[in-house]
Order: sequence, then C-alpha cells, then structure tokens
Amino acid sequence: MSKDHQTSLIFPKWLDRLRPIVGVVLLVAPLYIGGIVYFGFSPRATDVGYAPAQPVPYSHALHAGELGIDCRYCHTTVEKAGFAAIPPTQTCMNCHTNIKVDSADLLPVRESYASGEPVEWVKVHDLADYAYFNHSVHVNRGVGCVECHGRVDKMEVVYQEERLSMGWCLECHRNPEPHLRPVEYVTTMDWTAEDREALGAQLKADHNINPPEDCSACHR
Ligand code: HEC
Ligand code: HEC
Ligand code: HEC
Ligand code: HEC
Ligand code: HEC
Repeated sequence: MSKDHQTSLIFPKWLDRLRPIVGVVLLVAPLYIGGIVYFGFSPRATDVGYAPAQPVPYSHALHAGELGIDCRYCHTTVEKAGFAAIPPTQTCMNCHTNIKVDSADLLPVRESYASGEPVEWVKVHDLADYAYFNHSVHVNRGVGCVECHGRVDKMEVVYQEERLSMGWCLECHRNPEPHLRPVEYVTTMDWTAEDREALGAQLKADHNINPPEDCSACHR
C-alpha cells in the first residue's frame, strides 16, 4: 500500500489539498481551528469586488436589466445542475445575427461563431475545490441569485459581491429565513415582500428547509 493511500485513510481527501498549510495551522494552535469550527470565521482574503476584464464588453445591465432577458435563458443549468452554465456563442447569435451585426465589440463573438472555438470568458467566482457547492439545491429551495451575486441586472461588468467564505455560507445556513422566497421569483432581482422574515419562516416550515452545518456536507 502506498504512503499516499495510507494517509488518505486517516484524512479526508479534501484535507489533502490543504497539506501545505496544515503544518502552519497546527503551530498556530487550537484557537484558530476552534474559531473556524464554532464561528465559521475565515480570515482568508475573499476577492470581493473582483471584476476581471472580459474578451467582449457584454453587459448584464443591458441584457438582463434593460432588455429583461431572464437569467435562465443563458445560464440554462442553474435549476438542474451543480454549476451554472456560461452560454455558448449560439445563444448570443440567436439575436446578434440580426442585431448590431457590424458592431466591433461583437467581433470576437462572430469569430467564435465562424470558427467553432468558444469565447474565452474569464471566471469571476471561484471557490476552492475542497468546498462543495451546488446551484440547483439552492435555487430550487427558493434562494434567489441576488442573495449570493447581488444586483447582476445592474452590473455593466460582473463583479464578486459576497465573500463566498465559509463564514458567509454558514451565516445563511444557520438563519435562512430572511433569504428565502417563493421559487417562482428566484431570478426576479428586485423582488421584495412586506415581512420577509415571517414569509421566510413560513416557507422554511412548509418545505422543511434545513441547510446543513456539518463539515461533510460542504467538504466531501
Ligand atoms: C444574454 C445572456 C445572459 C443573461 C440573460 C444573463 N447572463 Fe450572466 N453571464 C453571461 C455571460 C456571457 C457571462 C460571462 C461573461 C461575464 O462574466 O460577464 C455571464 C456571467 C455571469 C456571472 C459570473 C460568472 C462567473 O464567471 O463567476 C454571474 C454571477 C451571472 N452571469 C449571473 C447572472 C444573473 C443573476 C442573471 C439574471 C439576472 C444573468 N446572469 C443573465 C450571459 C448572460
Ligand atoms: C434576446 C436578444 C439578445 C441576446 C440573446 C443577446 N443580445 Fe446582445 N444585444 C441585444 C440588443 C437588443 C442590444 C442593443 C442594441 C442597441 O443598442 O441598439 C445588444 C447589444 C449588445 C452589445 C453592444 C454592441 C454595441 O456595439 O453596442 C454587445 C457587446 C452584446 N450585445 C453582446 C452579447 C453577447 C456576448 C451575447 C451572448 C452572451 C448577447 N449579446 C446576447 C440583444 C441580445
Ligand atoms: C447560495 C448562493 C448562490 C446562489 C443562490 C446562486 N449562486 Fe451562482 N455561484 C455561487 C457560487 C458560490 C459560485 C462559485 C462556484 C464555484 O466556484 O464552484 C457561483 C458561480 C456562478 C456562475 C459561474 C459558473 C459556475 O457555476 O461556477 C454563474 C454563471 C452563476 N453562479 C449564476 C447564477 C444564477 C443565474 C443564479 C440564480 C438563478 C445563481 N448563480 C444563484 C453562489 C450562488
Ligand atoms: C442565502 C442563503 C444561503 C447561502 C449564502 C448558502 N446556502 Fe447552502 N443552502 C441554503 C439552503 C436554503 C439550502 C437547502 C436546504 C434544504 O434543502 O433543506 C442549502 C443547502 C446546501 C447544501 C446541501 C446540498 C445537498 O445536497 O443536500 C450544501 C452542500 C450547501 N448548501 C453548501 C453551501 C456553500 C458551500 C455555500 C457557500 C459558498 C452556501 N451553501 C451558501 C442556503 C444558503
Ligand atoms: C455550508 C458549507 C460549509 C460547511 C458546513 C463547512 N465548511 Fe469549511 N469551508 C467552506 C467554504 C466555502 C470554505 C472556503 C472556500 C474558499 O475559500 O474558496 C471553507 C474553508 C474551510 C477551511 C480552510 C480554511 C479557511 O478558513 O478558509 C477549513 C479548515 C474548513 N473549511 C473546515 C471546516 C470544518 C472543520 C467544518 C465543520 C465544523 C466545516 N469546514 C464546515 C464551506 C463549509
């Protein structure tokens, strides 16, 4: 049996990827781990505001905001899968074979369409791969896009609105009521209700919503 295999019997696989920092963490002592375990406190820098330049100046404020195109028209998998698909060039060309056909800004899209090579969009949100996240479980339980991504329908360039740290996940998991809405409004960015807390508590009870707080739910 290899040495690697033996370690993996003792430590879960995700911990393996943390190996370079484990030594340091052990030195800095139990207080640190205690803090993580009890408060979900993560001192790690979290990229709030990260807004990388994209190969095409695609605007959510125009398409999702002004034009009112539903998020799911492009991000087709959010309700069905763990990931939210970035649309293929064909989706853009559904309109742009007729609209703004000579736009210089759309040149990379037309080139991609002609060559079959996808547009190289730069990823904005990126969780460490030792943390497990799934879109469909959230969206289908009435957690709207806006809770985690902010007002994307007002963004010219998408940026990271929330910390996406463990503490941030757990804040909602421990107290989901103010963050729940009827599922038909998950993509309605400006949806509000008179007493969200009370409505949320109702939804939580009716649908038996209990977000997990155990380590193995997110580190599997
Ligand atoms: C017409 C297609 C289209 C629509 C409609 C659309 N998006 Fe997007 N979305 C894209 C494209 C293309 C990208 C990749 C380029 C970028 O980041 O701007 C993207 C990127 C994103 C990202 C960042 C992804 C990453 O890399 O981390 C988020 C979050 C997002 N969209 C949320 C939304 C939400 C919420 C809505 C509805 C309010 C929406 N989108 C509507 C096409 C669309
Ligand atoms: C449902 C139709 C529709 C879809 C789908 C769509 N667009 Fe658009 N797009 C428009 C309209 C309408 C305009 C605004 C045209 C105007 O200003 O008169 C526009 C404008 C643009 C512009 C600005 C062009 C300029 O020169 O002003 C860019 C860039 C753009 N879209 C990129 C994209 C990309 C990339 C996608 C795919 C992810 C996409 N669009 C999908 C309808 C669409
Ligand atoms: C509970 C929080 C949460 C909700 C609700 C949520 N997202 Fe996300 N989204 C995330 C996280 C976290 C990531 C980064 C995932 C990763 O890196 O593995 C992400 C990434 C994305 C991406 C990049 C592709 C991917 O899957 O990594 C897109 C596009 C996106 N979200 C769109 C949406 C849309 C559209 C909605 C609403 C229909 C939505 N999200 C709802 C937290 C959320
Ligand atoms: C705004 C509230 C909110 C945020 C933020 C949030 N979650 Fe959740 N999460 C929920 C709700 C609601 C459920 C559904 C619980 C249920 O179905 O009983 C859930 C369920 C889950 C599940 C269980 C999935 C399953 O297969 O059973 C996992 C794993 C999870 N979330 C991970 C995350 C991670 C990782 C983050 C941070 C990156 C995160 N969540 C952020 C509200 C949230
Ligand atoms: C709701 C989901 C969720 C639960 C439950 C959860 N974690 Fe995490 N954990 C995360 C996320 C998300 C990150 C940060 C990922 C990133 O930085 O990209 C993280 C990061 C970590 C890290 C890396 C150090 C740090 O602070 O960033 C450790 C160690 C950790 N978790 C341990 C635990 C332990 C032990 C438990 C159980 C007491 C636990 N986690 C429960 C989501 C969760």
